[in-house]
Amino acid sequence: MKRIGVLTSGGDAAGMNPALRAVVRTAIVAGLEVIGIERGYEGLLNGWLRPMDLSSVGGIINRGGTVLRTARSERFKTDEGLRLAAQVLNENGIEGLVVIGGDGSFRGAAKLEEVSGVAVVGIPATIDNDIGGTEYTLGYDTALQVAMDAIDKIRDTADSFERIFVIEVMGRSRGFIAAAVGLAGGAEAVLVPEIPFDLIQICEKLKRGIARGKRSAIIVTAEGAAKAQDVATFVEMYLREEVRATVLGYTQRGGSPTATDRICGARFGALAVELLQQGHSGMMTAVQGGQVVSVPLRVCWEQPRVLDESLLKLNEVLAS
Ligand code: ADP
Ligand code: F6P
Repeated sequence: MKRIGVLTSGGDAAGMNPALRAVVRTAIVAGLEVIGIERGYEGLLNGWLRPMDLSSVGGIINRGGTVLRTARSERFKTDEGLRLAAQVLNENGIEGLVVIGGDGSFRGAAKLEEVSGVAVVGIPATIDNDIGGTEYTLGYDTALQVAMDAIDKIRDTADSFERIFVIEVMGRSRGFIAAAVGLAGGAEAVLVPEIPFDLIQICEKLKRGIARGKRSAIIVTAEGAAKAQDVATFVEMYLREEVRATVLGYTQRGGSPTATDRICGARFGALAVELLQQGHSGMMTAVQGGQVVSVPLRVCWEQPRVLDESLLKLNEVLAS
């Protein structure tokens, strides 16, 4: 293998830049040429390619987002789009492709491998940490840190004003961020899409707290479980207490990657290049049992990751 490509795709995540840096530098040091593909699959279709050298990834280890830019591409999902993407890879002599993204990007990578014959390796990156086959996806730790810092700040005003707050965190279909940050932030209640909840029961719990002298409370909700404003309106009417809602939204996507995201990004990037060099394809880098390993890409959709409900149960006890 002489030349590889690398792209970032789907929702951006802190840790993409450290992973990109590691892919480029590991590959160049090993004697490979590296082509950066800008704006994910959309950029591949448009031929937005640029040769990467050692200095092209200088000064990015501490930067959130992705300097290669990211995008979503409907055209890539069509048969015609896939064929064109394969043609661009083949015409540019790209024999291996590293895809840094989420499970949607990996499904696309698997199809592209089939059509183009190019070897593909995925690096899991999404703040949602919801990819099967890996305990960790790049961006999750940074997103947790951002959300926890925000909860801490909101608690200052909640305590001062003796108010109840509802804080909405990301997670359109999964509650990994909500469950973890709810525990880390000491939230009085946590709502996740995976588990049905009863707002009356939650209000009754808050009422018991108020009776004991608690004058503020925080409810964390994943965006896919309930909208912060809807929960706030319900709780306000039920308890006749002042309730405020805050949506953390895209702040969770940004920020300088934490040490965990930088180190994991470095290790994932180096392993992805090694896998291509060893002739592997259809694999992704992963963390299993705390170790950095590789697993078949298909595991990410065949074995969906399950929320660890013990986090929520522990929080129930601790936030009594
Ligand atoms: P993520 O990779 O973060 O899960 P998306 O699901 O939006 O983000 O996927 C990113 C891109 O990957 C999509 O815009 C599309 O181009 C491609 N993609 C997603 N799902 C598929 C699929 N089933 N088949 C082919 N390509 C896909
Ligand atoms: O990156 C994952 C995620 O942040 C989800 O939690 C969220 O629902 C989604 O992306 C929103 O992203 P976009 O607006 O880019 O589709």
